[in-house]
Amino acid sequence: NWKLTNYIDHQIQAIKEKVGDKKVILGLSGGVDSSVASVLIHKAIGDQLTCIFVDTGLMRLNEGDLIMEAYGKHFDINIIRVDAQERFLSKLKGVSDPEKKRKIIGHEFIEVFDEESAKIENASFLAQGTIYPDVIESQSIKGPSATIKSHHNVGGLPEDMKLELLEPLRELFKDEVRKVGVELGISPDLVYRHPFPGPGLGIRILGEVDAEKVEILQKADAIFIEELHKNDLYNSVSQAFVVLLPVKSVGVMGDERTYEYTCVVRSADTIDFMTATWSKLPYEVLEKVSNRIINEVKGINRVAYDISSKPPATIEWE
Ligand code: XMP
Repeated sequence: NWKLTNYIDHQIQAIKEKVGDKKVILGLSGGVDSSVASVLIHKAIGDQLTCIFVDTGLMRLNEGDLIMEAYGKHFDINIIRVDAQERFLSKLKGVSDPEKKRKIIGHEFIEVFDEESAKIENASFLAQGTIYPDVIESQSIKGPSATIKSHHNVGGLPEDMKLELLEPLRELFKDEVRKVGVELGISPDLVYRHPFPGPGLGIRILGEVDAEKVEILQKADAIFIEELHKNDLYNSVSQAFVVLLPVKSVGVMGDERTYEYTCVVRSADTIDFMTATWSKLPYEVLEKVSNRIINEVKGINRVAYDISSKPPATIEWE
């Protein structure tokens, strides 16, 4: 694609000129925007770029390893991985209100990020995966990644750290960012993943969050996503995931009575995420997902399918 390679070459040149021999920090979340930004900037300035990846411990199964493999190993990008699950979980202890959980996660994210970036000496630039819709719609601030954008944009960086912003994707729409990502050699599987909310599993575990529930939900969610891929359905739905309810119900397994959690399988079809319908997934696929979750995930003995549209329901459960 001539136009695309032209754009990329032009941006690489512009980044080189702007940065010179200075150092750049980037908050890598594994989402499309920050990932594409990191690969693009790395192409331009190599090891002058350091990415900070805050693993909240509220991400999908093996997500942290996947990010390190896909960007650290494959592209040889300098990534500092911060395993911060304990910090996040201790802050979330006893909290069940969804908005409070969002605030805590967003706040903690910034704390960890600031601590880590302060350790990087002589950094001059803060790179961000800001895209065009973020620029025109800077009000729609939802998750940690967006929060960090606003936070740093309003000059909330550590006092002694005066970083200039580097935002090479500012002119692009999401679909263009994806194309740039593929052109740069990022696996299409990564670039075309469903959106994942900043607060992650923190808002997909209803009510109080703890390590055990995170583990249960990660396993159940991974099974659902795997089955969608196997049945060639992943790319035909807009967003799919599993939600863990703080509800236990009675079941039977062999001769034993069980008393375990209930999870909800959610899949939404939408164009703009403002309105959505539930995906009419084939019964056989739902049956397989349910059987596998109940058989393979200790702690869940009942699976429900969400058949609510947005509005009045939302796509997420919190
Ligand atoms: P709802 O649940 O409002 O979700 O129908 C619409 C889209 O927004 C995502 N979402 C979030 N993304 N931080 C994020 O970064 C959040 O707090 C958040 N809440 C919802 C949701 O996954 C869906 O794609």
